Amino acid sequence: MKHAMTNMDAAGAGSLGPEARRAIDMFLRDWDKRMMLPSWLPTYKRAKESFARLIGTEENSVAGVPNVSTAAGMVANALSVGPRSSVVTSDMEFPSNYYPWILCRRRGATVKVAKSRGFRVPLEELERLIDDRTILVTLSHVTYTSGFRHDLEKLCRLSHRLGAFVFVDAHQSAGAIRLDVTESDVDFLATGSSKWLSALPGAGFLYVSPKVIDKLHTFLPGWLGSADPATVDAEEFVEADGARRFETGTPNILGYVAVGVALERLLDFGMERVEERILSLTGWLMEELDGLGFDVVTPRERRLRAGIVSFKGSSDSGVVVSELFERGIKVSHTEAGVRVSIHYTNKEEEIEHLLKSLREICPAG
Ligand SMILES: Cc1ncc(COP(=O)(O)O)c(C=O)c1O
Repeated sequence: MKHAMTNMDAAGAGSLGPEARRAIDMFLRDWDKRMMLPSWLPTYKRAKESFARLIGTEENSVAGVPNVSTAAGMVANALSVGPRSSVVTSDMEFPSNYYPWILCRRRGATVKVAKSRGFRVPLEELERLIDDRTILVTLSHVTYTSGFRHDLEKLCRLSHRLGAFVFVDAHQSAGAIRLDVTESDVDFLATGSSKWLSALPGAGFLYVSPKVIDKLHTFLPGWLGSADPATVDAEEFVEADGARRFETGTPNILGYVAVGVALERLLDFGMERVEERILSLTGWLMEELDGLGFDVVTPRERRLRAGIVSFKGSSDSGVVVSELFERGIKVSHTEAGVRVSIHYTNKEEEIEHLLKSLREICPAG
């Protein structure tokens, strides 16, 4: 490879920042000592506290989970399927937020899938499917293909009016745009650590609203999810009072060391500034892509998008991705075309380099 790589693929895998890298090195150097001391527990808790701040809640409402798939599977199994038996989702979900609900069919649930139009899911289509038999509405806050963003407040208002819970897959939004679970009133929200949180994989988070925690049943008990993890001779399993009851055993400590530092970096910069920078850079990129003759699939309105810009042209998207890779630019592609992800750490010159490369690869868009 002739060039240093520029990562514009946070929607696939984000870049590890220098602070997280240093924290990982330090942790590894120290591992023999740490192994003997339970000093990792405070580090793990601190990472959860930072994530809680990022999404506008308290640490007690956040559990450490390896990834979104695990979080969705846990919530799916913690719900009781009774008279309320339908789950509403969309045809724009990643399998992590689809398979667990499909499996609920074996327990008598039905799954209703809202149809997208032009890589967007219209709220009216969801309104048509949600009714008083809906147990849960589950959607990606930002879809992994076109980058279309749902309005969480409207979605929660609509779902709650009919008594349904809302599960949000925030894997393409947490770390890119502001999130406030208290304001939007979501019931569950999950994300992984290696995309917009810019850390290593396997150190994700699940938020469970205090309003719903006691309506769920625990099905996967572990010492870390018990009321008192220090007790080893209890005869009964008593679960923690908050979201920690979704935790099981020893977590991926190295992963939480990295994500904890990456979260602090985001919080120091400030999520308002992160979001503003991302929306400005992506807005500029979309205008330039228009000028080059590409068909931009991502919505233009700021409130309907985040850090993903997807576009199609006359060349095959896979070929464009490979050609860009040869020029030192990492992006990816989905059924919505070439997918560029712009994080707040990406520089204006990198976007100029991307545009110059696209002009060379696809002179006619
Ligand atoms: C929206 C979305 N959700 C979930 C996932 C996968 O999450 P995990 O591997 O953490 O289960 C992806 C991966 O691309 C994604 O884009």
